[in-house]
Formats: sequence, structure tokens, C-alpha cells
Amino acid sequence: MYPESIIKKFVETFSAEPTITVRAPGRINLIGEHTDYNDGYVLPASIDKAIYFAISPRPDNECHVVAFDLDSSTVFSVDNPVASEHSWCNYLIGVVDELQKAGNQFGGFNLVFGGDIPLGAGVSSSAAVETGLSFAINHIYELGLSTLQMVQISKAAENNFVGVNCGIMDQFASMFGKKDSVIRLDCRDLSYQYFPIALPDHVVVLCNTGVKHSLGDSEYNTRRLECEEGLRLIATQFPEVKSWRDVSFDMLAQVQASMTDAVYRRARYVIGEIERVEVACEALLQHDLATFGQKMYETHHGLQHDYEVSCPELDFLVDQTKDNPAVIGSRMMGGGFGGCTVNIVEKAQLDALITQLTEAYQKEYNRELVYYVVALTNGTELV
Ligand code: GLA
Repeated sequence: MYPESIIKKFVETFSAEPTITVRAPGRINLIGEHTDYNDGYVLPASIDKAIYFAISPRPDNECHVVAFDLDSSTVFSVDNPVASEHSWCNYLIGVVDELQKAGNQFGGFNLVFGGDIPLGAGVSSSAAVETGLSFAINHIYELGLSTLQMVQISKAAENNFVGVNCGIMDQFASMFGKKDSVIRLDCRDLSYQYFPIALPDHVVVLCNTGVKHSLGDSEYNTRRLECEEGLRLIATQFPEVKSWRDVSFDMLAQVQASMTDAVYRRARYVIGEIERVEVACEALLQHDLATFGQKMYETHHGLQHDYEVSCPELDFLVDQTKDNPAVIGSRMMGGGFGGCTVNIVEKAQLDALITQLTEAYQKEYNRELVYYVVALTNGTELV
């Protein structure tokens, strides 16, 4: 259905073929949660769920935009990128605004966009909208931006226009993804490495709680502030500390008395998670899936009890897998407060697991469990 339906809608709406069609994927993250804005590591990958953009430049400065899946449309001008009454459009206007702030000059465009990334499920549909439009404008107006510049523009749109103080992981993964690989990104200096991930006998499956995570935006910003406060208190006693990467559990113990219990537990999670990603990546290199999976469970435990960004539905789905030997690892994924769990599961046992989880979830929450087996794909690209 995609991208054909998007292109068809473009032709119907604008009576011409689009100049280009862009595919911008969503992302998963195997481990390294809430570490991107804390100078840690993350291990994301872009996936075979994406937003497609059919787009052409216009001779004037107007942007005529159709959100295909929402059956909604609007017009704005690149001369006046102010917030729209259509909340979906702010991701786009934010990109236009940030591109301009970075000194780029370009005109208007006709655009139809839409795709199959589930909304509010923690797979970064918003980042895909941002990276897709950055990529598309860069291409049709020949702005000459690097991939990393487009990532930074996209992230800034989310921070400054949408108002979520997110880190760089989602936009980075959506842009830099590579088929059959995860990306180990060092969020302190943005160096990265692809890890080819060959799982002949396993699949990565996302289980969607159906709980929309949007309420988590304010909590997300609060976590960031708590982490900044924690780091500030640690640096007061240890002036050599410049980032969470310089902090040990031992230092934390010495500063604990000066912190609230919440800030202490956020700090304990962050230090632990930075360590866990390193161990997990080493395990991946050694093809030691058991250790990798164990780290995923530990991450969930930390997110549930110390970082407090999980929710009962996510905890339930993770708990259901714990005694199942076919599940290598399971944890909540993304910002939290809803969305999906990410699971590594033996291929041969997938159907049995889904049957078990679907029944249990229905019984506990009277809600259907939607799941997605995902493949790892290239990042944002021309179709
Ligand atoms: C959201 C943010 C990311 C990251 C994750 C948590 O997806 O957009 O920057 O912080 O939450 O790991």
C-alpha cells in the first residue's frame, strides 16, 4: 500500500507526479534507554515501518501539505513558520523553522505524507516525520547538508518547536540506519559503529500495549531535569566530572546524602545503563545472546523501579516472558509510559509466545495485543 497510496494521493491533489518520494523509517532500540541525553551509548536500528513523503518544490513560498493517514490538510508559508492548530503539522513547520535558523534558503513545496509507523507506540513516528522532511527539502532545494546536519535539524525541531527535550537517538537512527545492522552510537561525541546482527534463529518482535505514551512528554522533560540536577550535585563534590560517563557508583554513594531519593535513583539507573550497553555490545560481538538478553531484563528493571518511566501494561508483558526459555530478552522500549516492549524471541516459538501473550493480555486488560515482527533496514532514503 505504501508508498503507492501516497504517490497516488499526490497526483490526485496536485495534478502532477512528485519530484521525489522519500522513505523515513521508525526505529527500535535494543538497549541504552534514556542514555542519549545523558552522554551514554544507545543501540538502535531503523526498521521496516516508515513514513513516506511525496514532494515537489513550488514556485512560491507556500507549503501545501496533506497528512494522508489523518485525512487532514493545511497550508503554511516558509516566510512565517509559526505553530499550527494541526498538531501533526508542527513537526513539519519545526523542520522548516530550524532549517532557516541554520541559514538555509528555500521555497515552498507540495507534500503528501503518511505511512505505517504506529503512532504513540514508542517507535519514533515523530522523528521519522522530521528526518523525512529534512531529507526531502535538502534534496529538492539542493541545500548540501550532511546526514548529521539533517539529524541535528530534525532533533532541534522536536526540542524547540514541538517542545519535547529529546536526545539525538531517534533522529540519528532514522537517518543513519543500515540494513541488518544495529548502530552503537556514543552520544557524547556522536561517534558510531554498525554491528551487523545476524540472528538466523531469532526474531525481534515488538508488543504494543496500546497505551499511548504521549502523556509521558512532561515526565520526559522532568527526567532530564532530574539527571541534570544529579550530575550537578556529583560535580560539586568531584569537579573532574564533566558528564555521566565520568561518574562511578562509588562517587554516587559519596554524594547520595545531598540528593533527593528520586534524583539518587535516576542517577543509579543512568550509571548502570551506560555500563550495561558496553557489556551488551561485547556480548553481541561474542554471539552471547543469553548475556545480551539478561541485560535487556536488567534495563527494564531499572526503568521500572529507578527511572520510573514504565507502566503496568509494559511490566505485565515483560513479566509474562520471564519464565519462557524461547525469549532471550524483553523490556520496555523508548521514552516509556506506554508504547511497546521489544523482545528477542526464538523464531520457532514465536507463534506459541504470541498466543500466550495475547490471551494473558486480553484476560488482564481486556485489550487486544498488537505485535510487529521487525526487520532492520536502511535509514532515510529516496524510494
Ligand atoms: C525518546 C527520545 C529519545 C530517547 C528515548 C529514551 O524516544 O526521543 O531521545 O531519550 O526516548 O531512550
